[in-house]
Amino acid sequence: SAVWVLNGPNLGRLGSREPDVYGSMDHAGLVTACQETGKELGLSVEVRQTDDEAELVRWLHEAADAAIPVILNPAAFTHYSYAVRDACAQLRAPLIEVHISNPATREAFRHTSVVAGVATGTIAGFGIDSYRLALRALASR
Ligand code: DQA
Repeated sequence: SAVWVLNGPNLGRLGSREPDVYGSMDHAGLVTACQETGKELGLSVEVRQTDDEAELVRWLHEAADAAIPVILNPAAFTHYSYAVRDACAQLRAPLIEVHISNPATREAFRHTSVVAGVATGTIAGFGIDSYRLALRALASR
């Protein structure tokens, strides 16, 4: 079955972006890792990334209309985008919020997630494995 992995702003710059925080794998590597894990689990995984809030909201509407489960890394939108939250609230299949880093150990502005309250669950702090763990969580539901 189909799963979407949606990545928010600046995640297209993985690999070169603050590698001490986000690791050395680039976004293409993340796509491959998700698809490989998906294959093991019998999930067909589509990975998308955007820096554009409006585009992310549109994708969430599409996922809501098609009842597709979503693994979402809202990136900085996590902390302030009520538009992304309201779009997430419309989803009809499970939503897993993921983060590469553990925002709770970082700056105070990262301690709030406006998305968490409408997610099925959250996985944070395991690097790229956060995505693999999220796929496993979806597969076992
Ligand atoms: C992030 C954490 C956010 O605070 C940050 O704005 C990001 C990435 C993560 O995956 O660790 O862009 O969502």
